[in-house]
Amino acid sequence: MRLQHLTWQEVETYLRQRTDIIVPIGSTEQHGPNGLVGTDAICPETVAWEVGERYGVLVAPTQSLGMAQHHLAFPGTISLRPSTLIAVLRDTLLSLSRHGFTHVFFLNGHGGNIATLSAAFAEVYAERSLLDGDVRRGELNLTNNNWFAGPRVRKLAESLYGDAEGTHATASEVALSWFARPDAVKQVEMSPRLAPQGSAQCDAEEFRRRFPDGRMGSDPSLASIEHGRRFFEASVDDVWEAYRAFTGRE
Ligand code: NI
Repeated sequence: MRLQHLTWQEVETYLRQRTDIIVPIGSTEQHGPNGLVGTDAICPETVAWEVGERYGVLVAPTQSLGMAQHHLAFPGTISLRPSTLIAVLRDTLLSLSRHGFTHVFFLNGHGGNIATLSAAFAEVYAERSLLDGDVRRGELNLTNNNWFAGPRVRKLAESLYGDAEGTHATASEVALSWFARPDAVKQVEMSPRLAPQGSAQCDAEEFRRRFPDGRMGSDPSLASIEHGRRFFEASVDDVWEAYRAFTGRE
């Protein structure tokens, strides 16, 4: 169930039964020679939409812009600075909380968002905790789940790619995005086959020096749509398991 496809009356009806929601969050950033700029948003929203359909969970619009500062030396990357992303997330959460949502499950597709998501949660919790108990609205529980770190997904990536999975423009995320957008598949030979490894904590120019074609440690030419289908199924199961543990849904 996608929030964007409901009427306000249908949202009101949902809220009488359930007060939990998934918010997909990604990034708009380079993903190497064969990965789509939208990879980090496409992957979690594809999984979230399926969980929403299978289990009747509401899914909010995707937060497609994330914290992608280190990718800015590559054309197409659009980044929010951490303070901007915190402000966007804070207003999103205050809106949802105002309507009575009590459990907000972020499904994240970008490692570079994790620290900022955590800071945004701390900001919102601090704001609520600093208020007088009488003034504060109802309960609010927040969690972040990284689709790429789910146990079934990790096991599948290890068995298909081993060390060639890498840490950015990974074979698994390229495969899942291709499954979601088969018309956008690009066959490109990688040179060198395995990209260099290292830290992404640097400015954009230095990142491009360290990782000239944008990949980190990966060989995403191993990806395929069929692999993507398997990552999709693995991730839906990972996410539903985590979602049930967070919300207590059956
Ligand atoms: Ni990515």
